[in-house]
Amino acid sequence: MKDMKLSPCSNALNGELQVPGDKSISHRAVILGSLAKGTTKITHFLPGEDCHRTINAFRLLGVEIEVDNTTVYIHSNGLSHFKEPIEPIYFGNSGTTGRLMLGVLSGLPFFTTAYGDGSLTSRPMDRVIIPLKQMGATIDGRRNGSYLPLAIKGEGLSGVRYTLPVKSAQVKSAILLAGLFADGTTEVTEPTATRNHSENMLKAFGADISIKDTTITIRSKTLTATDVFVPGDISSAAFFMVAAAIVPGSNLTLKNVGLNDTRTGVIDVLTEMGASISITNKQTISGEDSGDITISYRKLKGIEIKGDIIPRLIDELPIIALLATQAEGETVIGDAAELRLKETDRIEAVVEGLTSIGGNVKPTKDGMVIKGNTALIGGKVKSYNDHRIAMMHAIASLVTREEVIIDDVASVAISYPNFFQDLKSISS
Ligand code: S3P
Repeated sequence: MKDMKLSPCSNALNGELQVPGDKSISHRAVILGSLAKGTTKITHFLPGEDCHRTINAFRLLGVEIEVDNTTVYIHSNGLSHFKEPIEPIYFGNSGTTGRLMLGVLSGLPFFTTAYGDGSLTSRPMDRVIIPLKQMGATIDGRRNGSYLPLAIKGEGLSGVRYTLPVKSAQVKSAILLAGLFADGTTEVTEPTATRNHSENMLKAFGADISIKDTTITIRSKTLTATDVFVPGDISSAAFFMVAAAIVPGSNLTLKNVGLNDTRTGVIDVLTEMGASISITNKQTISGEDSGDITISYRKLKGIEIKGDIIPRLIDELPIIALLATQAEGETVIGDAAELRLKETDRIEAVVEGLTSIGGNVKPTKDGMVIKGNTALIGGKVKSYNDHRIAMMHAIASLVTREEVIIDDVASVAISYPNFFQDLKSISS
């Protein structure tokens, strides 16, 4: 147990931060760098636990990967040199490692087994296994082959035409990765746009991929190594964007944050709530937009958050719920039942946590209703070993009257190893 006591903050937040590299892009850079022949250099990689799970998976498959903090070199001889792992692959807490690696392992001509931690073991894998089996993979495991631990026998895949029944970039990406190994054409149609980092990076690595409306088409082709620069993670930046928006007098700049349109829902929400927010130094590297976000305190109002915006801010909903406790009026979050299937049930964890420190938050089947503007008191809260719940409570402590004691904050290492140092640097 690694508990943390956080005292209320008596001053405004000021300064600049460079948040760590984007988690989704870091995973994909390791995956595509490993599949491509040659050397791939990744700069500003996220050295979080989840991304290290993806690195370890490829090391077990025989790929040479050097890690020097946030710089990673991948030396790959290409797929034909991958070897059958002699031990099970551990996905840890990482849904992205698990689901995307299932797409890769389905295309490799050998047998692998894989398992995860307690949380990942209870998260559904059938959403990727169903299409991968349609492509010809043999996958079996617990509960009728739909939960980890799993055994995968790959090779001999054929292209598929698949319409995503869930709004999930992980599922889309798993199918596209399997499509790299499949005979013929693989087509994925998504009813609502989800993060498109896989598509952007597949293009950068020279894949035969095309996108028309909401359908992505990929054909098997050898990838060519390329360098990847990872922008800051907007999902990590969101904690500090909200901090500046709710602590009176604050003004913060978050440098070089990823601004891919499929991820910027939190900026739209803050803007609609009335926050003062501006973006400078915009640039685009390898198809990924980034820029500096400056945000300062201003009075906020509650809004409705539902529909197509949800996949653009799914990971930010816990911190948006905290934001809503400090906004005048009611905020309604809907169409977000996926929150129940994350590292923990994030609807229950948020409602329980914010209610216990004085918030007025009620769960619904696919979201929550938050009544602001409440004076939060503080007290003991649980993180449920979920990094985003732990960080949400840490940010809450900036506006509580008394201290917040989080039962276990070890999970922040999943996506933001220096979170508490960064928090201290802007709040003291
Ligand atoms: C991710 C996709 C999202 C997100 C997760 C990362 C990705 O999950 O919640 O943190 O990197 O593809 P889903 O695909 O399950 O929505």
